[in-house]
Amino acid sequence: MPIIRLENVTHNYGDKTPLCVSAIKNINVAIEQGELVGIIGHTGSGKSTLVQHLNGLLAPTEGKVWIDGEDIWKNKKNIKNIRFKVGLCFQYPEYQLFEETVYQDIAFGPKNMKLSEEEIKQRVLEAADFVGLDRALLAKSPFDLSGGEKRRAAIAGVMAMKPKILVLDEPTAGLDPQGRDSILEMILHYKKVTGATVLLVTHSMEDVARVATRVLVMNRAQVVMYDTVKNVFAHSEELENMGLAVPQITRICRELNRRGLALEEGIYTVGDACAALLPLLKKGVG
Ligand SMILES: Nc1ncnc2c1ncn2[C@@H]1O[C@H](COP(=O)(O)OP(=O)(O)O)[C@@H](O)[C@H]1O
Ligand SMILES: [Mg+2]
Repeated sequence: MPIIRLENVTHNYGDKTPLCVSAIKNINVAIEQGELVGIIGHTGSGKSTLVQHLNGLLAPTEGKVWIDGEDIWKNKKNIKNIRFKVGLCFQYPEYQLFEETVYQDIAFGPKNMKLSEEEIKQRVLEAADFVGLDRALLAKSPFDLSGGEKRRAAIAGVMAMKPKILVLDEPTAGLDPQGRDSILEMILHYKKVTGATVLLVTHSMEDVARVATRVLVMNRAQVVMYDTVKNVFAHSEELENMGLAVPQITRICRELNRRGLALEEGIYTVGDACAALLPLLKKGVG
């Protein structure tokens, strides 16, 4: 049984008004437990709207959302529990830090879950470790943290609820390459330790190639592909027509191929490219 299933889901903003926008249209998709799904698509294609349906932050105008085999809107009182099961981290989550201390901010979710003080403390410390936030920072005001630290603290707040499904909307947006790498590493680590299913909305094809098990491609309010990284990236022309380019390194390797280097198809990460190029360099090709 898939852990997430969307059945004919449509969401209209300003439904039944002249300003009605169908942000997602008739979406059908099933995601299995334990996947790390990269969600890509041009700006305005409906990615954020889609993920906000998974924890009931938005309700579908039409269709059904199933989490863990349960229609989440069947019993409206249940929505709170869905929010604990599906942790959603918004784009630029650092703007939502508001408590006096970093500790209190990370503890906000677990407190809502009505856990004991002891359990809350344990969760906060564990989440801080997950995101590599120095424990000494927990007593500080969130406003005294650096940009990167704020981002980590915000993500720790979601992780502290130990959601079975972790959804992150562009968690690496606006970070430098090092900051980006470390956020990706901590997401992978969280997934490995907890076995969670992870959905990652991102602009970066490189990030998708590095960490995702599957890719979901949105275009004009619809899911147009949902497949393995390899199968999705094989449609490079279609992706380019949607304004999505395959990773730069893939294009470089194709160009090298065209110029006579015998590199295999399907190189999507710098690491793969190094592994393919080094033996050729050692042989003294070129
Ligand atoms: N709160 C809102 N009210 C009205 N329209 C919205 C709102 N949020 C998003 N939209 C519109 O819905 C469409 C999809 O937006 P969004 O889900 O944010 O896409 P993405 O995350 O892929 O950039 C866009 O046309 C956007 O302008
Ligand atoms: Mg968005």
